[in-house]
Amino acid sequence: MFSERTNWKLARNRFTQALEEVRAGGARVLDLTVSNPTRAGLRYDEAAILRALASPRTLDYDPQSKGLLAAREAVAGYYRDRSGRGGRDVAGNVASQGMSDGIVVDPERIVLTTSTSEGYSFVFRLLCNAGDELLVPKPSYPLFEFLADLQDVRLVPYPLIYDHGWQMDFPSLERVVTERTRGVVVVHPNNPTGSFVSEGEVDSLNAFCGEHGLAVIADEVFLDYGLDVDPDTGNGRVGTAALGRPVERRSTAQMLQKSSPQGLKPASSVAPDGTAEAVPFPKPIRETSLRNRRSFVGNEAVLTFTLSGLSKIAALPQMKVAWMVTSGPGELAGEAMGRLEVIADTYLSMNAPIQWAMPALLEQRKEIQRQLLERVRGNLAELDRQLAGQKACSRLEVDGGWYAVLRVPVTRSDEELAIELVREKAVVVHPGHFYDFPGDGYLVLSLITAEDDFRDGMGRVFAFLNS
Ligand SMILES: Cc1ncc(COP(=O)(O)O)c(C=O)c1O
Repeated sequence: MFSERTNWKLARNRFTQALEEVRAGGARVLDLTVSNPTRAGLRYDEAAILRALASPRTLDYDPQSKGLLAAREAVAGYYRDRSGRGGRDVAGNVASQGMSDGIVVDPERIVLTTSTSEGYSFVFRLLCNAGDELLVPKPSYPLFEFLADLQDVRLVPYPLIYDHGWQMDFPSLERVVTERTRGVVVVHPNNPTGSFVSEGEVDSLNAFCGEHGLAVIADEVFLDYGLDVDPDTGNGRVGTAALGRPVERRSTAQMLQKSSPQGLKPASSVAPDGTAEAVPFPKPIRETSLRNRRSFVGNEAVLTFTLSGLSKIAALPQMKVAWMVTSGPGELAGEAMGRLEVIADTYLSMNAPIQWAMPALLEQRKEIQRQLLERVRGNLAELDRQLAGQKACSRLEVDGGWYAVLRVPVTRSDEELAIELVREKAVVVHPGHFYDFPGDGYLVLSLITAEDDFRDGMGRVFAFLNS
């Protein structure tokens, strides 16, 4: 009766079951996986948001396939503002690279979508025939699998390798590329590793994609959460530095798919290819290295689709607004836009109130990003404070985003550990397994968790690990 692409295992996994049982027992559960910003105790300008949704212009129906021009212009304005903000810290690189925030984004190269996921599905449809392949980072955002299944696309992982920071492994990209490969996905910065694609990697990526005729698909939903950003001014720190939900978007059904067959994985600190993993150790947020925080919207070397949206940029996931920007060699980018427009026109999924509200909603990002950056930095500092008393645990370096990765001793599978933490300590963390870490010994923590919960929850985690 049903398509094979929907042959998902729909049973609840053991982690979810354990959580439900503990909650049903009445325990106060501390959730360190919070990724829904609307429930994270942030202060939104409610009046401004609600006012923005009530424009009388929403009474008119003006079907535009790429989205209303005024809304696309607001997105272009976001990139213009970013360049003003980040201009100082990347100024030296702007001229030398094909990619910068100094460029003006043409609203005609922007397509609005109801989510980044919808943007992904449009791009997958544009680039891939059934069975074609896309290279995706590992570890990364688990929703990719479902998006790919639904579009009949095959995902081929390429590892990010940790060695005092995460790096793309270009030799492995060369090994996995085939005739059927259509593009490379980068998440900038990646969820949950918090790593940006460095400038050298952008060059190598462009060279690789140019050589093999591939497109770049850049997910930048966390781009503005570089940890060097000054929470008060939004500026990168000049002189010192220029330098994770999938969950709230995923239904329980999707989360269940990540359960391993017996709910257990063999404990190992050896990568699947047999190489020993680099052993991480705690380090402070890097304040001296130059990290690339520029957007891919200016990447002209190869066909590039840059995806972002309000869900993280303005911490408004409920508004269901995202966008994609096409850049690249003129003729190719033009043809891509023509085709994307037909895909978008087939659905016309954007509603009028939200599009008219976009300038005001994008404006909200300034204050909300300030709060979130303060939260993320505060929780990271708290994590480091507690880690200072720990011998066996460390955290991996993080340059941006909403998550931290904790390295713990491998005494059991990550999933088993997460289940025991729920049952014994009523604290929820994500096993690295949900994000396809190369082995066990990784827990993922949300840094946007309310500070008190984060502090107490980490206390519970370490108490358990030391018991
Ligand atoms: C890397 C990444 N991309 C996209 C999304 C989802 O974005 P949207 O809500 O716009 O679909 C998430 C959600 O956590 C994410 O982590």
